[in-house]
Amino acid sequence: MDRKEAEVYLRLDPKRLPKHIAIIMDGNGRWARRRHMPRVAGHRAGVAAVRSTVENAARIGIQALTLYAFSEENWKKRPKTEVAFLMRLLCRYLKAEIKTLNNNNIRLEYIGRKHELPESVQREMEYASEATRGNSGMVLTLALNYSARSEIVDAFHSLAEAAARNGGLSHFKVDEETISEHLYTRGLPDPDLVIRTSGEMRLSNFLLWQLAYAEIYVTSTLWPDFRGVQLLEGIEEYQQRERRYGGLGQDHAHSHEPAKDHARTEAKR
Ligand code: FPP
Repeated sequence: MDRKEAEVYLRLDPKRLPKHIAIIMDGNGRWARRRHMPRVAGHRAGVAAVRSTVENAARIGIQALTLYAFSEENWKKRPKTEVAFLMRLLCRYLKAEIKTLNNNNIRLEYIGRKHELPESVQREMEYASEATRGNSGMVLTLALNYSARSEIVDAFHSLAEAAARNGGLSHFKVDEETISEHLYTRGLPDPDLVIRTSGEMRLSNFLLWQLAYAEIYVTSTLWPDFRGVQLLEGIEEYQQRERRYGGLGQDHAHSHEPAKDHARTEAKR
C-alpha cells in the first residue's frame, strides 16, 4: 500500500467493509480524448486500473468484486474495430493475470451471455476460470456481454423450465430467493456498494435486481485513473452512509414507540 492508500485505509472500519462491490468502469474514451489519443488507448490504460482495483480489493479482504466490462449494448453500438480491440485486450488480460489471481487466491467468474462472444474468447475465459477454480478468497466476476434485463429474461426461462420439470405450475412456488437463485449471480451476496466512474449518474442496465439496496458512489475520476486509493475512498464514503433498507434511521430508532413495541413483540416470540 502506498502512503495515500494507507492514510485512507487507516480511517476505515475493517469490520464494516462491504462484502460485495460492483463497479461500472466508465470514461476510457474521455481519458483518451483529453490526451488526443485514439479511444482504444483509453481501454488499454483501463487495464492497469482493473489490475490495481482487483489487487487492492483482495488485499483488504473484500469477498466479491464485480466489474462491468462490456454491456450487450457495447457490442451493437460501437465500431467493429473497437470491439475487436476490446476482445484482444480481454484475452491478453486473462492470459497475463492468471498468475496474479492465483497468488492472491482470487477465483474468476463471468456473468453475461457468454455463448454470444467469439469462440476464441470463450475458450480463453474458460481456461482462466478453470485455472482459478480452486481459490477460496475473493470472487472476481467480469460482466461480459452483460445486460440486467437479459439476465432477468434468462431467469424467467430458467424458472419456467424448472417448473416444467417439477410437475408444472400448480406446484410452482416463486419468491425473491428463488429468483436470485436463477440469476447469473447465484451464490453471490447482493452488492452493498456500486461505484461508477467518470461522473455519470446511471445504472446502465447493470445488476438491476441485485442493486436494490446498494449504496451508490459516483466519482468524477475517469476509469483509467482509478486506483486502490479511489476504491478506498469509495468504501470510506460507504461507511459514512446509514443503510436503512426501508426502515427508520438511527435517530428515530430510540425515540419511536412502535419500533420498540415491535422489538418487544419480537423478543416474546
Ligand atoms: C467504458 O468507457 C469502458 C468500456 C466500455 C470497456 C471497459 C474495458 C476495460 C476497462 C479494459 C478491459 C477490461 C478488462 C476486464 C481487462 P467508454 O469507452 O464508454 O468511455 P467514454 O464514456 O468516455 O467514451
